[in-house]
Amino acid sequence: MEELKVDKHIQYILSIEKEKDSFMALTMEHLRMNGAYWGLTTLDILQNIATVDQNEVISWIMSCWDEESGGFAGNVGHDPHLLYTLSAVQILALLNRLDILNVDMVSKYVSGLQNVDGSFSGDVWGEVDTRFSYCAICCLSILRSLDKINVAKAVDYIVSCKNLDGGFGCTPGGESHAGQIFCCVGALSITGSLHHIDKDLLGWWLCERQCSDGGLCGRPEKLSDVCYSWWVLSSLIMIDRVHWIDKNKLTKFILNCQDCENGGISDRPDDAVDVYHTYFGVAGLSLMEYPGLKTIDPAYALPVDVVNRFFFPE
Ligand code: FPP
Ligand code: ZN
Repeated sequence: MEELKVDKHIQYILSIEKEKDSFMALTMEHLRMNGAYWGLTTLDILQNIATVDQNEVISWIMSCWDEESGGFAGNVGHDPHLLYTLSAVQILALLNRLDILNVDMVSKYVSGLQNVDGSFSGDVWGEVDTRFSYCAICCLSILRSLDKINVAKAVDYIVSCKNLDGGFGCTPGGESHAGQIFCCVGALSITGSLHHIDKDLLGWWLCERQCSDGGLCGRPEKLSDVCYSWWVLSSLIMIDRVHWIDKNKLTKFILNCQDCENGGISDRPDDAVDVYHTYFGVAGLSLMEYPGLKTIDPAYALPVDVVNRFFFPE
């Protein structure tokens, strides 16, 4: 079997950094904060986070902070959003620099986005989605500030998005989708509410996402895609059903999506690589305990040693 090209992937991530004067030049500028999280978490799983200039990353992150609202934007001068606020907090946790945050203000930004039915809007414009429930709960848990929201109502809302097939959608009645399932299972896991899930039913739906090529897909009738190695596998681990898929075949599928020459991982074999699929491929291999990688936590999407550090500080 092809092996993981660790050095090539490190070079690939660092080369994206060098394309601009500071960290992570991505084609989608507004997603830069997410890109930085994908790239840096990949480097940490590959045991190479020390290769980046941490001060440069931290000062760029703080220049994306909006003092007025307390939230983080996707790039300098853009509007704050929960998606980028979670990525910023995750990166600071990764770099062990949560101390520079004004935790009260960031928590206030996040809690201010909870609606009366317990759901969360992504930003002031109001779009509601279970993705934002996850972002809020994960972010506040890292900041040890879950008491700033109504957790019971947040859980009720997520449970109201559960479908008859055992999966979850974006809003009540929305079709089950592996990405949304990760968000809902992750939020329920962090809040100690996994008893709301029928594990056998959901486990069945999730393991049926494995295609004949060994890869995982996001919904019935869709093609396999490396990013679902994360969304599906992390969910299966959280509900203790990961032994229902063929790990060997999935490992081979991910390794086949590598660009062995220039580094990086693509969504499926022979497609162009990007930092998003590089992260999810490496994170998926970490979930399957591939040798030489740091173990990643399936709920927080951060290495386990990082999660332990914010829960059990020295
Ligand atoms: C599919 O995306 C994925 C989702 C809907 C889940 C997104 C979750 C977050 C943004 C929460 C933060 C995540 C982490 C790991 C910390 P897609 O638009 O690619 O779906 P498609 O394959 O159907 O196009
Ligand atoms: Zn994908």
